[in-house]
Amino acid sequence: MSSDRSFARLPGFRDFVPGEFAIRDHIFSTWRRVSRRYGFQEYDGPPLEPLALYVEKSGAEIVEQLYSFRDKGGREVAMRPEMTPSLARILAAHSRRMPKPIRWFSIPQLFRYERSQRGRLREHFQLNVDIVGEAGVAADAEILAVAIDSVRGLGLTEGDFVARVNDRRLVTEVFAALGVDPPRHAACLAVIDKAGRAGSAKTRAALAGLDLDDSAVAALTELAADGSLENLQRRFADREAVLSALQPLREHRAMLDALGLGAYLQFDFTVVRGLAYYTGIVFELFDRAGELRAICGGGRYDRLLELVGGEPLPAVGFGMGDVVLGELLRDRGLTPLTGPACDYHMIWVTREERAPALAAAQRLREAGCSVMYTFRPQGVAKQLKQAARNGAALAVIIGPDEAAAGSATVRDLASGHQETRTLDALFAAARAGTEAAGGGGQP
Ligand code: HAM
Repeated sequence: MSSDRSFARLPGFRDFVPGEFAIRDHIFSTWRRVSRRYGFQEYDGPPLEPLALYVEKSGAEIVEQLYSFRDKGGREVAMRPEMTPSLARILAAHSRRMPKPIRWFSIPQLFRYERSQRGRLREHFQLNVDIVGEAGVAADAEILAVAIDSVRGLGLTEGDFVARVNDRRLVTEVFAALGVDPPRHAACLAVIDKAGRAGSAKTRAALAGLDLDDSAVAALTELAADGSLENLQRRFADREAVLSALQPLREHRAMLDALGLGAYLQFDFTVVRGLAYYTGIVFELFDRAGELRAICGGGRYDRLLELVGGEPLPAVGFGMGDVVLGELLRDRGLTPLTGPACDYHMIWVTREERAPALAAAQRLREAGCSVMYTFRPQGVAKQLKQAARNGAALAVIIGPDEAAAGSATVRDLASGHQETRTLDALFAAARAGTEAAGGGGQP
């Protein structure tokens, strides 16, 4: 066998070396902080689910992208491509005993066999936040507020991203007004969902292929190109059913205005969502520059829980991926500073002081501080260099005199200032968190 075999990473999958892991950790901790601030509790489920959970419930596009196989017990299984069917399955087993509305969030890793490109991979992590058991529009507004704040929490602002909002019930009324019969609705939704990327000519051809009236093809092509509220109202000025279907969106907007987030909202008829289960208000968050795929997508899905055999509960939620967000943070210079960092670096002068230095290192760690030291015997100057490379704030030097006196020389590596103090004083300061910045026991 050849000895120079190299194992390449699978396309569309990522390694998280510490610098990348720090960005991921920064995104996850912001997501958790914001979700908890809104009163959501974290849950999780298995990454492998029965294949049947996704067939029909998720929609054709996701089913085509499944990583699925037959397991050794002969079961048809799939790596989860989204969290919502798992949430519905979990709640089908538990919701009857739970007070409503249920407010849950999760950060699953998901798998979709997509064509890898900027912002799209074959695995991603996705913040899922859902409210289950509340049909009123206040829950829709709350969900969109969490989504917006989850992005704002990372330092992105109104100038960076926008929430495009629509309502599936409004789309149904538009279809009715244009004479599109219900069996064609799903196919029309799929064409409109892709219209932004496909362009007008392809959209028109795809709609024409659905055997619609010429006037319906023309109207939908035009709405897909200009999905503004003004255009919709102008076009359907005499259609009462279409105009009154705008009412929930008005209430939704009023609530987001009251929460101080109205400036992020923009009505857009082309946002219909590719997934099959949405039934009401739907939304997607995009970067304003329009360079990337959606940051987030979600909406109301009032029938899914019943479809997987649970209590018939209304639900609303969203999924926000870490890939597009990571790209945006890198573009805007908003990634966290990374690199090794520790509170103390222990240095011993001769071999005799190694044992007291190790004992002191352990006391400092027990006080909640991070401590490193050089593994091999080295001169003090080299150990100090290593301390600086490790990002230590303070070097703790123990030589023969210090060891005899139960003390240490503590050197601030940024200023070069140093002083000798007793080990007891050093441990007390570490416990009180009054010294080096950045560590567990620190201020
Ligand atoms: P989705 O629109 O399929 O919705 O995905 C939500 C977000 O996940 C997208 O906007 C995108 O940021 C990210 N995402 C999706 N696929 C990929 C990929 N291949 N690579 C990188 N990022 C990706 C759902 O999954 C729904 N289950 C969301 C939901 C929760 N609706 C209600 N509750």
